[in-house]
Amino acid sequence: MFLTMLVTTLLLPVSTLISLLPPLTNAIPSGPRLDKRADLDTWIAAQTPISLSGILANFGPSGMKAYGASTGILLASPSKTNPDYFYTWTRDSALVFKTLVDQFISTGDTDLQLQIDDYISAQAKLQTVSNPSGSLSNGAGLAEPKYMPTGSAFTGDWGRPQRDGPALRSTALIAYGKWLINNGYTAAATNIVWPVVQNDLQYVGQYWNQTGFDLWEEVNGSSFFTTAAQHRALVEGSSFAASIGQTCSNCDSQAPQIRCFLQQYWNGQYIVSNINTNTGRSGKDANSCLASIHTFDPEAGCDDATFQPCSPKMLANHKALTDSFRSVYAINAGIAASSAVAVGRYLEDVYYNGNPWYLTTLCAAEQLYSALYQFNTAGSITITSTSLSFWQAIYASAATGTYASSSSTYTSLTSALKTYADGYVAIVQKYTPASGALAEQFDKSTGTPLSAVDLTWSYASFLTMAAARNNVLPASWGAATASTIPSTCSASSATGSYTAATNTAWPSFPCTTVSTVQLTFNVLATTSSGQNVYVVGSIAELGTWNPTNAIKLGADMYTDGTPLWYGSVKVAAGTAFEYKYLRKESDGSVTWESDPNRSFTVPTSCRKDASVSDNWR
Ligand code: NOJ
Ligand code: NOJ
Repeated sequence: MFLTMLVTTLLLPVSTLISLLPPLTNAIPSGPRLDKRADLDTWIAAQTPISLSGILANFGPSGMKAYGASTGILLASPSKTNPDYFYTWTRDSALVFKTLVDQFISTGDTDLQLQIDDYISAQAKLQTVSNPSGSLSNGAGLAEPKYMPTGSAFTGDWGRPQRDGPALRSTALIAYGKWLINNGYTAAATNIVWPVVQNDLQYVGQYWNQTGFDLWEEVNGSSFFTTAAQHRALVEGSSFAASIGQTCSNCDSQAPQIRCFLQQYWNGQYIVSNINTNTGRSGKDANSCLASIHTFDPEAGCDDATFQPCSPKMLANHKALTDSFRSVYAINAGIAASSAVAVGRYLEDVYYNGNPWYLTTLCAAEQLYSALYQFNTAGSITITSTSLSFWQAIYASAATGTYASSSSTYTSLTSALKTYADGYVAIVQKYTPASGALAEQFDKSTGTPLSAVDLTWSYASFLTMAAARNNVLPASWGAATASTIPSTCSASSATGSYTAATNTAWPSFPCTTVSTVQLTFNVLATTSSGQNVYVVGSIAELGTWNPTNAIKLGADMYTDGTPLWYGSVKVAAGTAFEYKYLRKESDGSVTWESDPNRSFTVPTSCRKDASVSDNWR
C-alpha cells in the first residue's frame, strides 16, 4: 500500500556519491572477501569510522550531505529521489541517537555529545509541531512518523500514526539522561531531558493499546517491534523518573499490561510480527529480530517474557526468520542450512522487488552476539525443546539439556554460535562496496547496493553490531525486574498530560578542541549538462587559486528547486582563507564567480564538522 507499488528501481548512482567522499585512508581493497574469514576483524575495524562519519554526514546543519537540514535534524538518507528519504523519521533518528549516545559513553568523543545535545533540543521542538497525526495537546501528534528537514510538518499521505517513535525516542534520551546523572549533571537530566521523555512516556501509556502502522510503514495493526519498544520505554522510564525524584505512575500501571500483550505475538513456533490485522503473510519478519536487539538487557537472563536474545523463543524465531529467506534470494542459493544468509524484512516484501537489507542482516548477527554474552554471563546454556532446532542447525549433535561453561559441549555450542553470527557479518562485508558506503538494500540476485544510498540507520546498525561483537554493552533497562506476566491481560490505557519542553540551555560540558575540521562547501549554482562547479581558494587544500587544482564539487543532490553543488575538505581549525567558486565547461574553459573574493575562518571548537552555504554570483 502507499508508495510501495509505485516505487521504481531507478537508482542514484552510488559511484557518483562515493567519489565525493574525502579519500578514505582506511579503505580496504575490493574483491572477493567472503571466504577470508580472518579478515572480518580488519574489515570491522575499517568500517567502524566510516559508519560513524556516514551518520554524521546526514546530520544538520553541518553534515557533508545534510544541506537543508536544520540544527539537530537527522536525515534518513541524503537520497532525494528514488526513493526520497530526505526527511527526518522519529524512529530512525531515535535508533541512531541511541547508538551515538552509547558510542559517546564508551569512547568519550565530545563532538558526539554536542550532536546529542542538538538532537535533543530539536526533538523538544518537534514534539510541539502540529501535524496530520495530531498535536501535543492530547499527545496524538507525537506518533507522526516523519518531518521535513527544516523540522516542519510533512503533510502528504503516509502510513500514520507510527506508535514506536515516542517509545524509541524516550529510550535514546534516557540513555543520555543516565550519563548526565552519573556525571554530575542531574539538573540537565531533570530540566532538559525529562520534560521531553515525560511526554513520550505519557504517550505510550495512553495509546499503546491502539493499532497503528508498523515500522515498515505498511501494516495498520499491532506490531511486535512497537509493543516491545513501548514496554521497555515504560519500564526504564519509571526507574529513570525515580532517579531524578520524579514519578511515572502511568508507566507503572501500563508496563505489566504491555508485557502481557507482548506474549500474544508468539504462535508456538515463532513471533508473528503483525497481529490484529490481516496481512496474508506468514508473520516472519525482521521486525522481531530488531525488537530483540533493541530490548537486549545485559543484566537479564535468557528470559522468554522479554524475548531476550538468548531466550529459547527468540532463538527459535531467529531460525524461522532467517530460514524464510534461504530460498527466495538468488544470492542465498547453495548456502548450507548451518550457515548465515542474507536477510530481508519479510519474505513477501515487494518494496524494490523485495531484497535483503544491511540492517536486517546485521540484526541477525547482533542478536547472536548478545546471546553469546548472556550465555557467558550465565555460565551455561540451556537447550529446550523450543530452541533445539536452532541449535541443531549449527551443531548437529545438539540435544536438550543444560551445559555448564566448563563442559566441552558448551565450548562447541558457543564456538558454533560465534562462527554462525560472524557469517552474517561476512555476508554484509561481501556486499558492501570498498568505500564502505551502506545503502538500504542489496540486490537479491546480484548483491549490488539498492534503494536509498547512505542510509543513516544502516550505518548505525553496523555500529551496534560491532559493539555487541566486542562486548561493549548498553546499559541495563531493568528487564530482569520486568518478567512477571499478569494472569489476565487487559486492554488498558492511562490518559496522559502533555507539556511543551522548552528548556534547551545545555551546560557547557568540558570538551576536546579539534585540530582538523571537515569543512563542507555548499553552493547553489544552476548549471546545464556538461558544466561542473569547483571551489578554489588561497590555501593549499583549495588549490592555491589555481583552477587546475580546484576541488570539484558533486551534484548528486542537485534538483531544479535546490541546484546544490557540494564537497568537503579537511582544514586545520583556525585557518583563515579566501575562496571563490568557478565553473568549467566540457571543453575545459573556466568561468570565475564575480568579485570580491569570499572569506572564511575555520572555527576552533570541539566540533569536527563545519560548513558554508553560498549562492553562485
Ligand atoms: C517507503 C518505505 O517506508 C516502505 O517501507 C514503505 O512500504 C513505503 N514507503 C510506503 O509507506
Ligand atoms: C523505510 C523503512 O521501511 C522505514 O522503517 C524507515 O523508517 C524509512 N524507510 C526511513 O529510513
